[in-house]
Amino acid sequence: MQDGDLVGVQRTLTPVLRAKALDNRLTDPILGDEYAELAMRRLDPAYDRRRFGTSQIGLAAVARAKAHDDWARGFLADHPDAVVLHLGCGLDARVYRIDPPATVDWYDLDYPSVIALRRELLPPREHYTLIEPSVTDLTWLEDVPRGRPVLMIAEGLLPYLTETEIHELLTGVVDAFPSGQIQVDTVSVGAWRTSKWDPVGRRYNALFRSGFDNPAALADWHPRASCGSGSDSDFGLGVGSRRLDAGRRLGGRRSRHAHAQRPLASRRRHRPPARALLRSAGARCE
Ligand SMILES: C[S@@+](CC[C@H](N)C(=O)[O-])C[C@H]1O[C@@H](n2cnc3c(N)ncnc32)[C@H](O)[C@@H]1O
Repeated sequence: MQDGDLVGVQRTLTPVLRAKALDNRLTDPILGDEYAELAMRRLDPAYDRRRFGTSQIGLAAVARAKAHDDWARGFLADHPDAVVLHLGCGLDARVYRIDPPATVDWYDLDYPSVIALRRELLPPREHYTLIEPSVTDLTWLEDVPRGRPVLMIAEGLLPYLTETEIHELLTGVVDAFPSGQIQVDTVSVGAWRTSKWDPVGRRYNALFRSGFDNPAALADWHPRASCGSGSDSDFGLGVGSRRLDAGRRLGGRRSRHAHAQRPLASRRRHRPPARALLRSAGARCE
């Protein structure tokens, strides 16, 4: 099993999965996602023995995932009849981590080659459906049940869509459901503009296509959406901090070396500055 069939932006799922797999090996993990570790091992049995070893260069992605999980758990506790749209799911095992009740219908959506990989690496479950068009082809909305609260999660996806595509996506989802919560994360305008120099984006040929310095303003695009507490609008928008990509800086040369030189036992005891990152990841607009 390899991710060799993936191209461009689809390949960005691998470093995120790797970070989650490594998190699961910590004594006090943030996510504790054993599916990530199993899937990563099957995808690349030597994933922890390559250039970066067990360095947690992608730790920010783990903190980001934890923030999305916590928001989602809160929403599903209040809306056990919800429909979940998990867009650009990659190989993320959120549905297994959250393990929603059978009253929730969960949809994971990504490109066909990613979905094919998911089918091989992750198990099926009840009330869980995989769909495989581009998120920008909104005809997929016709295949999901309406008339119920919706939880839309787009983790690590929006930077790869244009502003127009994001606008159409959010409008399409809000128009299709009576109420719900939308959870997204974005990057800053600066990160978008400089992404052509970003080594990760260059490596995967996956440049950012949008950026927002005030992502809370995404809610202004639709009269039924709002970003903030105390609102009685139909849709709440949760926006991750634009600094969620800080993990790349966190994993800078000096700390990577310091980490890689420790023996494995001591690496497992290593406590990353994850809680600080978590605080940054949870900075939604409230
Ligand atoms: C950085 S990865 C994040 C994966 C996952 N959300 C996670 O956090 O582990 C970005 C994902 O978005 C998916 N993606 C990007 N553009 C997409 C589109 N137009 N339609 C469907 N999926 C898309 C990619 O295939 C990839 O799996």
